[in-house]
Amino acid sequence: MSLKTLSEARVLVVGAGLMGAGIAQVAAQAGHVVRLYDTRAGAAEAAKAKLAQTLEGLVAKGKLTLEAVQATLARITPADAPSGDIDLVVEAIVENLEVKRALFAELEALLPPEAVIATNTSSISVTALARGMKAPERLVGMHFFNPVPLMKLVEVVSGLGTAPEVAQAVFDLAARWGKTPVHARSTPGFIVNRIARPYYAETLMLLQDRAATPELIDACLRAAGFRMGPCELMDLIGHDTNFAVTNSVFAANFFDRRFTPSLVQQELVDAGFLGRKSGRGFYRYPDGAPALPIMAIASPRAARLVVHGRGALAERFAASVPEAVRELDSDWVGLATDGRQLRLTDGRRAADFGPGAAVFDLPLAPGGDIAYAGDAATAAWLTRLGLTPRAVADLPGLVVARTIAMLVNEAADAVQQGVCNEAGADAAMKLGVNYPAGPFEWLAYWGADAVATLLNRLDQHYRGERYRVSPYLK
Ligand code: NAI
Repeated sequence: MSLKTLSEARVLVVGAGLMGAGIAQVAAQAGHVVRLYDTRAGAAEAAKAKLAQTLEGLVAKGKLTLEAVQATLARITPADAPSGDIDLVVEAIVENLEVKRALFAELEALLPPEAVIATNTSSISVTALARGMKAPERLVGMHFFNPVPLMKLVEVVSGLGTAPEVAQAVFDLAARWGKTPVHARSTPGFIVNRIARPYYAETLMLLQDRAATPELIDACLRAAGFRMGPCELMDLIGHDTNFAVTNSVFAANFFDRRFTPSLVQQELVDAGFLGRKSGRGFYRYPDGAPALPIMAIASPRAARLVVHGRGALAERFAASVPEAVRELDSDWVGLATDGRQLRLTDGRRAADFGPGAAVFDLPLAPGGDIAYAGDAATAAWLTRLGLTPRAVADLPGLVVARTIAMLVNEAADAVQQGVCNEAGADAAMKLGVNYPAGPFEWLAYWGADAVATLLNRLDQHYRGERYRVSPYLK
């Protein structure tokens, strides 16, 4: 297949729904002539009219010029049927394998041989979609995120038959459209939907174990830098949708128990408590999460204070308690006070250290809510260290540490299996789901040994496949 660059491609967007309309906008704003086609009569015209309204609103706000908007709109033409004078099709129709395959067969009969077909599928295998095509090498995934004009990430997904030059041409085009493209291999969930699973799964495990409330877990992960906590995020996505994605990743991995869905979420779906859209999920809407209590905590006293360990966290603690002495060569990080120990979690529980010991969660940000397992004195010392203590059950890895470790582990497996590279995983998670850092940035900060140790301890505690350590980390 000979492929010219797609920089001046005549574009056909098929499907004028939520995603297709956004894709047509982005392509037209980048200067492409765009046809917009939908089987639903009037859908393409309606999408264009709605886009005109949105863009004119941006003119009123001074964000776009009237000329630019008129030029963009002039490039988009609603079409009654697909036609052959096209270099790139972007398909954004219903998420159904058979319907998409039928469309590709229809398109192949019309299009010139060098035309590229890109699918915006979010969950169907690109390899499977290409089966039956005359030229499977021309099909590639171009997975945008919602809302398309705002979200920077595009996963460029190669199936088994996709020609590398086709994937590269779509990658280069996405970059020209102002996006950050990332190459991915067509495996279940691609990059983002796969690596993100533990963000939900670890919370659901904690809830199943009755270790903490949804509002506490949300507060701790927000304090770690996530824009939304997992419970409020699942409520926003909708439990039906989130549960369906988890189930599809689980099934597509031949029921690898690592991806086992949660009974907690199953029950919400069974009840119809789907989140915001049904007025109730973990929380009731419009109110959302109840505020956590502000605790009055007495100033702690100790005759002797020792800050244990090295690194950024130990330095921060030493600055908060300048009267403390340092024990730099300690094999743990935290604070010792008259016969008590406050240890940064390494996956062991407070109970594993005997009386007087407490564990606290990984503080990814300098202040804010932090989970701990310990007594009232532990809470007082954490407050003194500038944190807002939140009591949880004494489980390995508490809230943030186990979540981050599992996100790192899933990303490591994805790289091990050639789904993407490290930079791709980091970009995908930061741009596709707004994570405060990429999994490999966390890994660099925390260290592979510490992550693997924590995962091994989770594995000893729970047994099963969920916490098996990625060979990539070993
Ligand atoms: P939507 O339901 O808003 O739009 C789909 C449109 O396709 C509808 O207007 C429908 O009339 C039209 N359509 C259905 N069959 C057709 C056919 N055979 N030929 C032409 N038009 C047809 O759906 P949405 O959300 O825009 O999703 C479209 C695709 O994008 C799906 O594959 C979905 O998985 C994927 N996607 C969706 C995301 C989202 O957040 N909604 C994110 C990323 C990908």
